[in-house]
Amino acid sequence: MPQTTFPLHDRTVGEIAARLPGASGVFRRFGIDFCCHGEVPLAEAANRRQLDLGALEAVLGDLDPLAIPDAPRETGALIDHIQTRYHQAHRRQIPELIALSRKVEAVHAGHPEVPGGLADLLQRIWGELEVHMKKEELILFPAMRRQAADRIAVPIAEMRHDHDDHGAFLAELARLTQDHTVPEGACRTWQALYAGTAQLRADLMEHIHLENNVLFPRFEKGA
Ligand SMILES: [Fe+2]
Ligand SMILES: [Fe+2]
Repeated sequence: MPQTTFPLHDRTVGEIAARLPGASGVFRRFGIDFCCHGEVPLAEAANRRQLDLGALEAVLGDLDPLAIPDAPRETGALIDHIQTRYHQAHRRQIPELIALSRKVEAVHAGHPEVPGGLADLLQRIWGELEVHMKKEELILFPAMRRQAADRIAVPIAEMRHDHDDHGAFLAELARLTQDHTVPEGACRTWQALYAGTAQLRADLMEHIHLENNVLFPRFEKGA
């Protein structure tokens, strides 16, 4: 996507995030859902968030379209990257966050901003995500590596549906944590907890984006 193709307003946010290195970080900063709702044109996404479209296009226009993307392009390498950078990271992150959250909820039970129910929410996210990642690792990704495109339309649709559920979990996570913002004078555990939930949000959005907007469409076009 060379810079001469700007303006971007009628391109979808998923396409922009997939083709312009750094765009997903910009979208995250502006609160634009580029992973579960990547099909939305940029102009409409800006309108939904009451953002100035011209200013948003200017920020995107400052990105270098020739920068090296974080994720490899080749399908097998991309799947490897998703598994090592995201699946394994979630498996490290989420159990730690559950433990931190239980601690904060117990120690600060009387605090008006205590994130009551956060540990239970994270436990639900963890349960769903683990089953989802296993399905990708054992069924979908091996079929993709074999280029068995005729057999994977249904599993892909199921994974997209799961991703929508994960997006709803992230919205609930943001609500419970005041958008990952610690209260004044919060202890280090609370600070570590919200730094971790913000990282989980960033990682899960990028993870879903790579599957929904980059990997899956390669197998859906001819299906
Ligand atoms: Fe995944
Ligand atoms: Fe997934």
